Amino acid sequence: MDFLSDRINRIKPSPSMAAKALVEKLRAEGRDIVDFTIGEPDLKTPDNVVEAAIAALRNGETKYTGSNGTPRLRKAIAEKLARDNQLTYAPENVVVGSGGKHIIFHALAVTLNPGDEVIVHAPYWVSYPDMVVVNEGVPVIVQGSEAEGFKLTAAALEAAITPRTKWLILNSPNNPTGAVYTAEEFAALGEVLQKHPHVWVMSDEIYEHFVYDGAQHVSAVQAIPAIAERCLIVNGASKGYSMTGFRVGFGAGPVTLVNAIAKLISQTTTCPSSISQAAAIEAFSGSQDAPRAAARSYAARGKLMAELLGKAKGIAVHAPRGAFYLYPSVAGLIGKTTPAGDVLASDLDVVRYFTETAGVATLDGSAYGVSPYLRLSFATSEQTILEGCRRIVEACAVLT
Ligand SMILES: Cc1ncc(COP(=O)(O)O)c(C=O)c1O
Repeated sequence: MDFLSDRINRIKPSPSMAAKALVEKLRAEGRDIVDFTIGEPDLKTPDNVVEAAIAALRNGETKYTGSNGTPRLRKAIAEKLARDNQLTYAPENVVVGSGGKHIIFHALAVTLNPGDEVIVHAPYWVSYPDMVVVNEGVPVIVQGSEAEGFKLTAAALEAAITPRTKWLILNSPNNPTGAVYTAEEFAALGEVLQKHPHVWVMSDEIYEHFVYDGAQHVSAVQAIPAIAERCLIVNGASKGYSMTGFRVGFGAGPVTLVNAIAKLISQTTTCPSSISQAAAIEAFSGSQDAPRAAARSYAARGKLMAELLGKAKGIAVHAPRGAFYLYPSVAGLIGKTTPAGDVLASDLDVVRYFTETAGVATLDGSAYGVSPYLRLSFATSEQTILEGCRRIVEACAVLT
């Protein structure tokens, strides 16, 4: 349609949101679908957070706030960064948005000029490249590999940097692979970044609470203090506190950048929800039992899913280190024939086969930039994991 801008025509809808819509459609048709596509916690929002939201409503905290967020929430976030990440930020260094995604989008919008490059390591969270494109930047995709633990290496970073590089986006713990960078791995990237002071770093730490098997979350700024002056930390309440619907995320970084983000927010969404901000103060400052309990629960479920999927012929699984996703290779299924006589030529074919034949919804690695893999979320009940994996094991067994 001619009326729509070139900008919007260049991007696609978020594949995970599209998958959610497909699952809903199939269920509405009466199909029994096990859903492993979900990118959000299945756990309840903690009671203390819900109570804080209700109290905010009763106290009349129902009006616009400053575009950078309320002073109390920005103070709570600065204290959270000191407590959890050993980082010193003043409330003036913090901007609150309607989700981490909102902050990333606004950060790109206020910094990218047409043709500016953003380094994105694959497999990547599906939204990064499109958010760069819609802001007229150029995503420079660095292909990662399982052999490197799906982590960006110093050599690959060095090779990707050009005079047009504006940002490097880092995401640890990682969606979709569950990879968690160590301080040493970040430090190796830091050595490259020291040589290229024009490159800024966006460190997406939204899954920080979910690390397993002795892995530890380290903020990129903690590991590379020299980049503090050119790093935007992105985090939020969605994953750690099961608050996806509240839409609260934040950016922490140099004042000039966070003020520019707030300036744009003042012209887009005005401010994040006042009620959600009040709830987020309780999330960040109140009892931290809920994210700890959630991490224990996801650890057990990730382990279970990895064990069960490991039994499927043709699927090679690694136990997750962080976040709540598995990213197994399905190279062993490519070229196989289904009972209906179709040949599985790609991971997208595998996704279709599992959805249509086994009633299990997953996401294809091609959406995340590295194939042939699948992304499966284990932020779902143990019963769902048992049933979905049983169906996948069966569906793989009948391939020839
Ligand atoms: C890697 C990553 N970053 C950021 C987000 C954004 O989350 P929200 O906008 O709910 O804070 C997500 C959500 O799926 C994510 O997976």
